[in-house]
Amino acid sequence: MPKSIVAGIGFYVPKNVVTNHDLEERIDTSDEWIQERTGIQERRFITRFEETTGTIGAKAARVAIERAGLEPKDIDFLICATLSSDYFFPGSGVIIQRELGINKLGIGCLDVRNQCSGFVYALSIADQYIRSGMYKNILVVGAEVHSTGVDFTNRGRDVCVIFGDGAGAVVLQPTEDPHRGILGTKLHADGEFAEKLAMINPGSHSGVHIGEEGYGFDHDDPLSHLYLTQAMYDNDLIYPTMEGQFVFRMAVMKFPEVIKEVLDEHGYTSQDIDLLVPHQANLRISQFVQKRMKLRDDQVINNIHKYGNTTAASIPIALCEAWEDGRVQEGDLICLAAFGSGFTWASALMRW
Ligand code: UT7
Repeated sequence: MPKSIVAGIGFYVPKNVVTNHDLEERIDTSDEWIQERTGIQERRFITRFEETTGTIGAKAARVAIERAGLEPKDIDFLICATLSSDYFFPGSGVIIQRELGINKLGIGCLDVRNQCSGFVYALSIADQYIRSGMYKNILVVGAEVHSTGVDFTNRGRDVCVIFGDGAGAVVLQPTEDPHRGILGTKLHADGEFAEKLAMINPGSHSGVHIGEEGYGFDHDDPLSHLYLTQAMYDNDLIYPTMEGQFVFRMAVMKFPEVIKEVLDEHGYTSQDIDLLVPHQANLRISQFVQKRMKLRDDQVINNIHKYGNTTAASIPIALCEAWEDGRVQEGDLICLAAFGSGFTWASALMRW
């Protein structure tokens, strides 16, 4: 059975740099608070009315495809991981396909909604298709646009200072080389905590959590609209919310667990890792994981100071930057790991 290798990798971040000082002008926060709690110095925001999750995803994809020595028409399956798709539906997979000019080829497009773990979940799916021989050139994209959906007021300051926009992509191909490829992936979730980090509107839930009244539902009209109501706007119920400390505590527990799980299965220890690419959730989380796993600085990638938390895009962006900087060499043991909304968490281990 073949294994999957990353044949090409690319990333794209919008040109607009937004610093912590820029946010200070809008909300009651400080560069010091943001850096101390998260390590973030700046993030990128899309150019509004020009860029979307689909368009930035396609930009990253073009780089990955070219580096794989391919053209867009060679892609035979596309997977897109995002929590911020262009539309509520369809997902951004078909938008990326169209942007790449390959929509008339009719290749399948799959959208993965696993938030911060989305890219690792998507990679795992692609890996199974490659191993089974179903596809030969799979494009896996993680793309995210937060800047058009978070709450830039003091009420949303715990969330809005963390997130940024960006996209990363890989092309997966089969290899018969026994010394290279994805060795395995581990995927987990616990829906008990679904609302701990969530954007629950618009949705089909008909009034959970704050009671139906807060949503302004019209019980007298059985056909009234429930996804979005005026009261949701009026009561500021249309933004992502997070119980930060709770998420933090779970993250520092689950990251080491899922990294160890994939290492154990393949007979490695953390000392064998050449590079850990953690989802860039918060520098303090990554530092905690590094310490817990007894990893040296050169074994862990951190780039959150430049881009903030780009959820499904953060791993392919960080992996691509590391590759461009020469920190990823053929044969290196690379571990990807993520934790986030759902909760979902996941890891992947590969020989580059
Ligand atoms: O990628 C998905 C996974 N997400 C994560 O992993 C995020 C995990 N959580 C975190 O990273 C942290 O919990 C945060 C960075 C979000 C928050 O840091 P914290 O140390 O947990 O702060 P906190 O929520 O306990 O808030 C401490 C104080 C509060 O003020 P009081 O009540 O002590 O007066 C907040 O109101 O900091 C205040 N605060 C802020 N102050 C300045 C909250 N947000 C801000 C802000 N600027 N942006």
